[in-house]
Amino acid sequence: MALKQNEAWGTRVGLILAMAGNAVGLGNFLRFPVQAVNNGGGAFIIPYLVCFLLMGIPLLWIEWSMGRYGGRSGNHSTPFILDNMTKKAFWKYFGVFGIFTNVAVAAYYCYIESWTMSYVWHSLRGTFDGLSQSEVAQFFINYVDVAHSMTGIPYEAVVFYVLCLALNTFILSRGLRGVERAAQIGMPLLVLFGIFLALRGLTLGTSGASEEVPGASAWDGINFLWTPQFDSLSNPKVWLAAAGQIFFTLSVGMGTIHCYAAYVRSKDDIALNAVSAGFTNEFVEVVLGSLIVIPIAAGYLGLDWVKENAGFGMAFQTMPYLFEKWGPILSALAGVMWFGLLFFAGITSSLAMGTPWMGFMRDEFGWNRNKGALTFGLLVLALGLPTVFFYQYGVFDEYDYWAGTVSLVVFALAETILFSWIFGIDKGWAELNEGADIRPPRVYKFIIKYITPLLLSFVFLGSLFTPLGNEWQDAFVSLFAGRGWQLDDSSLVQMVANSGLNKQIASATDPDTIAALKDRKFFVNMTRLLLSLTFVALCGMVYLAGIRRSRVADQTAKA
Ligand code: PHE
Repeated sequence: MALKQNEAWGTRVGLILAMAGNAVGLGNFLRFPVQAVNNGGGAFIIPYLVCFLLMGIPLLWIEWSMGRYGGRSGNHSTPFILDNMTKKAFWKYFGVFGIFTNVAVAAYYCYIESWTMSYVWHSLRGTFDGLSQSEVAQFFINYVDVAHSMTGIPYEAVVFYVLCLALNTFILSRGLRGVERAAQIGMPLLVLFGIFLALRGLTLGTSGASEEVPGASAWDGINFLWTPQFDSLSNPKVWLAAAGQIFFTLSVGMGTIHCYAAYVRSKDDIALNAVSAGFTNEFVEVVLGSLIVIPIAAGYLGLDWVKENAGFGMAFQTMPYLFEKWGPILSALAGVMWFGLLFFAGITSSLAMGTPWMGFMRDEFGWNRNKGALTFGLLVLALGLPTVFFYQYGVFDEYDYWAGTVSLVVFALAETILFSWIFGIDKGWAELNEGADIRPPRVYKFIIKYITPLLLSFVFLGSLFTPLGNEWQDAFVSLFAGRGWQLDDSSLVQMVANSGLNKQIASATDPDTIAALKDRKFFVNMTRLLLSLTFVALCGMVYLAGIRRSRVADQTAKA
């Protein structure tokens, strides 16, 4: 039996802001624009919206329902929320994903979050004033790269990382009130800063066109993102990217929503709250997320530059340089707003990643908030330092791939099957409708039962067996011609075998390059080992928790 937790969200507004803050994150501003540009701009938008309707909304409803249902019987973390819905003991180990993903994602996510803190500081100090485009870009490389620091330690990066974790730990130790508070302050400011910068993006027009890029216009960027294109609808590559973005941005398949929803009072609405938080996230992502980086960069550097250089570093390596063009005062202000916005987006999400661990330890082992928050901070630090020190060996990317991409799909698929087929869609639907302030359209009962699991299976299979060059048509032609299915190195199957790296090692001739690649392979394998061990350790704790529960149950039966 679980320790009784009476904690609950303070107000409805607080709950929605916290849930929206959970969803609105770095993914909205750093990941979305890059995904959109790399997948053909307007070609991305339709699959993206379809995925939102057919996977995003259903998963939101599933997770909110599961969470509140679990919370009613005192369960605030996915292992026992799942356990509570079935008779099979094995499901609670599946629920480990709901803690593991959060801790592992937090490790690298908080690292990026700490960059935003540092960049607010540097914008205020005017560090970027007068630097050229390549100098601003180099600043970032020096910041994260161990090899460029004199001591072999990226000193500043570590300081800000620890600071950032300390702040997260502190807020978490205040419990849900702390999280609610952070969202009440962070979310409005984020939207305010976002609107300011987006207006700047919208009104930049051709005024940024320089001599090198005559005719560059911010509108090229906006039109590229927002003019729907239908020709890519049959391309699974775009669909997979769209689905991946929907998962990440809505924080579904992670266990955070379950945990937050477990603290909703059992009679309170979830159906409307879930869509409110979901739509808030979509507004921030599709509107604010597309109106800042891409148009501003396109306005100064041209759309072609953006297409070639779209990447996650753009926000740090290019934006401070472009802000410089607005004069000293406005550039400092824009820097503070941009990195401040990213910081608020980040912290309201990383706080969400801390709650499943805290809820679990509190339910099962009676740990208080301080202990829960502190151990979360230390755990993230231990898992995060490798991403700081070995950033250039691809440790960071491994975390993002396994914890931030693969795990989400696996867990989302499993929980959808559990909800619709094992727990039963009728019971599930009734749970969603209990206390609901809207009537969820009945068609969603059908979607949740059939369409969502089917689509999730496609996404999973598609990632498992991604064909060579991501060329699906060619792959099917080859398959039907009896020439088999050639896997791409980015497919999960080939990733496990390190096939891409092995090929690079085999074809390299220069000994230094070979040594560097071998180092990389070593770090990649070590990272996977570390992540697997973390998962196994969490399974061990769930096992212990199970024993504890049966012991308590025996005692109560005897008494
Ligand atoms: N949804 C968040 C974003 O868009 C990321 C996140 C992941 C939040 C896991 C909570 C848990 O950045």
